[in-house]
Amino acid sequence: MIAIDTLPEAKRYARAVESSKRVRWDIEKDVIRGRRFDTSHKFLPDGLSLAGEFTTLSPRERRFVSQIQGRTYANIFGLVERFINAKVLELSHDHWFGDQVALEALVRFSDEELKHQALFRRIDAMIGDVLPSGYRFDVDANAVAHAVLGKSTWAVLALTLDIELFTLLHYTQSIAPDAELSEIFRDVFLYHWKEESQHAILDELELVRIDAELTAEERDRAVDELIQLVAAVDGILKAQASADARYFVATCGRPVDGTEARAVDASFLKAYRWQYIHSGVRHQRFGTVLSSLITDQQLQRIQAALATLQ
Ligand SMILES: [Fe+2]
Ligand SMILES: [Fe+2]
Repeated sequence: MIAIDTLPEAKRYARAVESSKRVRWDIEKDVIRGRRFDTSHKFLPDGLSLAGEFTTLSPRERRFVSQIQGRTYANIFGLVERFINAKVLELSHDHWFGDQVALEALVRFSDEELKHQALFRRIDAMIGDVLPSGYRFDVDANAVAHAVLGKSTWAVLALTLDIELFTLLHYTQSIAPDAELSEIFRDVFLYHWKEESQHAILDELELVRIDAELTAEERDRAVDELIQLVAAVDGILKAQASADARYFVATCGRPVDGTEARAVDASFLKAYRWQYIHSGVRHQRFGTVLSSLITDQQLQRIQAALATLQ
């Protein structure tokens, strides 16, 4: 089989369309299949929830943490897919009167992201049915999308590539043998990844296309904007880690003192930074694409900014 990244550009759009048609799935028929969440299962695998970091918690409490994080996982994806879809629709404009296969690839990408947002709303509601009340996710997806789309397309696409690449890692984490892992969540990872693999290819094609139109100064500004976007994502993760830690403390069924509550908050943040920032940035393809577009000095600027988010 020919690796897709060695194909000429036009063929890569065509291959993305073919794969998109082949793997297409339905929320109810393929992913949910009439099932309900069972709280005797973990929702996120240990490799994503970083269960081992929550050193003061019992196994049952760590499982509850993985369920809280599972609900936040659905909400974070619902959030980022709002701006990703808006950017894809905007980019499709460049292909209206050009390559119709590239246009079809982006239309399918957009359609899939709308479906994924519906899937994640469904998952959020299904988890709400089985977990204690009081969970909060107070981030406005539209307000975030407006702010993100205020940055250059290069910066938004670089962030999007990071996000869409890490769904592969999340899927591979979820297939590790673990009898305690929720079968529904395992399927969420599997089906989401099936369509995200095409998205990552399209992000890369569009990023390289947009990059070719930039001057060196514009690209240098875009690198700064990417750093600003990652910092903004981190701000959302910090707020949500605190909200989820408060929810855990309020509903775990035992007293948690201030020191332990702060440790739980810090562990939530570490897990979220791993899930939504570092796991994609460390993806080999992300490094390869980025270093083919920017200077070593710009790459170091990005790495230095990321190193502060530990
Ligand atoms: Fe998605
Ligand atoms: Fe996607």
